[in-house]
Amino acid sequence: MSKYKFGLVLMLVFAGLSACDKNDAGSSSDATGGKAIEFLATQDDKSFSIDSALFDTPAAKEFLATGKNPYVGNVEAVAKGKKVFQMYSCTQCHGPEAKGQVGPGLVGPTFKYPKNATNKGIFETIWHGTNGGMGAKGVGLMDPTDPKNGITPDEMLKIIAWVRSMGSITGNE
Ligand code: HEC
Repeated sequence: MSKYKFGLVLMLVFAGLSACDKNDAGSSSDATGGKAIEFLATQDDKSFSIDSALFDTPAAKEFLATGKNPYVGNVEAVAKGKKVFQMYSCTQCHGPEAKGQVGPGLVGPTFKYPKNATNKGIFETIWHGTNGGMGAKGVGLMDPTDPKNGITPDEMLKIIAWVRSMGSITGNE
């Protein structure tokens, strides 16, 4: 192999290695000791990331690691979830009991987007929006380009726990 070709091979190897590094840095695994679910947009099933630092409570960290919502069935969290739902004006479109108004009812057990029967799926829908009139994080009140503005993952899990408390599924099935 000529010196030139050998150099080229080395360069390719290093380029490959640094590409792997970049992928690692982009994942949200640091806060959960390596385990983290992959968030998929409801619009197109494409992967999107949420700053892992925003998952700043034990429940939020557990969700990030497992996709399960530990607040389902927790009376205090459910009561808080109802308040957060009102605070972020979800009520305006989905009704005070989330049974539907301008927007659809949210209690299931069937959903326009079937993945919303799971807590991971409904979290993705609320966080990232849909193409059919549901803005990311209930846009209008919050800035979707600023992850620190608006609903936090912990608040989102409480909303979901409240919604589940009125339906027949837990979403953690
Ligand atoms: C401006 C009105 C509006 C606001 C505010 C709003 N939504 Fe929606 N939402 C909609 C509409 C319209 C749809 C139907 C979207 C579609 O068909 O793609 C929807 C869909 C949804 C779905 C999916 C339902 C299904 O059957 O798959 C969920 C879950 C949801 N909204 C939760 C929320 C939560 C939680 C909030 C508050 C953070 C919120 N929405 C705020 C209008 C709104």
